[in-house]
Amino acid sequence: MGSEATPSGGRPGPDSERGAGHDLGFGLGLRAQHMAQVLAERPPVDWFEIISENFMDSGGRARHDLRRIAERYPVVMHGVSMSIGAAQPLDMDYLRRLKRLATETGARWVSDHVCWTGVAGVNTHELLPLPFTEEALRHTAGRVRVVQDVLERPLVLENPSTYATFRQSTMAEWEFIARLCEETGCRLLLDVNNVYVSAVNHGFDPDEYLLGVPHDRVAELHLAGHADHRTHLIDTHDRPVAEPVWRLYRAARALIGPVPTLLEWDDRIPPLPELLAELDKARLTATDRPPASHRVTCHG
Ligand SMILES: [Fe+2]
Repeated sequence: MGSEATPSGGRPGPDSERGAGHDLGFGLGLRAQHMAQVLAERPPVDWFEIISENFMDSGGRARHDLRRIAERYPVVMHGVSMSIGAAQPLDMDYLRRLKRLATETGARWVSDHVCWTGVAGVNTHELLPLPFTEEALRHTAGRVRVVQDVLERPLVLENPSTYATFRQSTMAEWEFIARLCEETGCRLLLDVNNVYVSAVNHGFDPDEYLLGVPHDRVAELHLAGHADHRTHLIDTHDRPVAEPVWRLYRAARALIGPVPTLLEWDDRIPPLPELLAELDKARLTATDRPPASHRVTCHG
């Protein structure tokens, strides 16, 4: 548990044992309504993930409480506004503020999504899908390198849930991500729920996705709940993890091995004990062997 965290001055270097690549155990997304309770009760959570934008520009009580939590637990940062695949220039001021917060919290790593979020200075606050083409790969890889130079650490990028694809794509999402990792040294935040949501929405095999990503580049796994609308799934983060996602998580752990796991819950957020119970389920599931009939095998 969190006694090893340092609030500042302990910034991990790239790929250090304190940075991406180190198994922190089982973490929770830190949400505003739980911060006072976390400080008062010190619940058995191995680490916390914060939404970077919720703290980057805030001062006062929220930032003060975050610093205290970072003294007690390892903290990692997860952002939603980097827009790494966008055509418009990177927001260098955003990156500098991101780096400042990472230094202040001793963040073990900084993540965002393989997506774009807007155009012409407009942030849609949506994680929009990229075309998986050579051109988009070159463009995104160049931007990842710039971000890593500014942040002075490997960037960790998450596969988003998507609801549309581009006819122009010439490779699968997992191939795009694998090549992005290979060409830039960035790491992968593999959201198992997002793999499942996109697999159902677009009709691909989620096990093929798990086999296609670079297992040695996975820095973190995400678990979350989704809503089933029969014709499609929506990544809502407002309910427990669905059974097929637990099955996929078990398969991912069997392939990848011990890697930090994070439970996300962003809407209709339950009391902390309910989140802790769901996190315990992740702990148990992680060490389960997948049933033989569901074990992922490579037929290639
Ligand atoms: Fe996620």
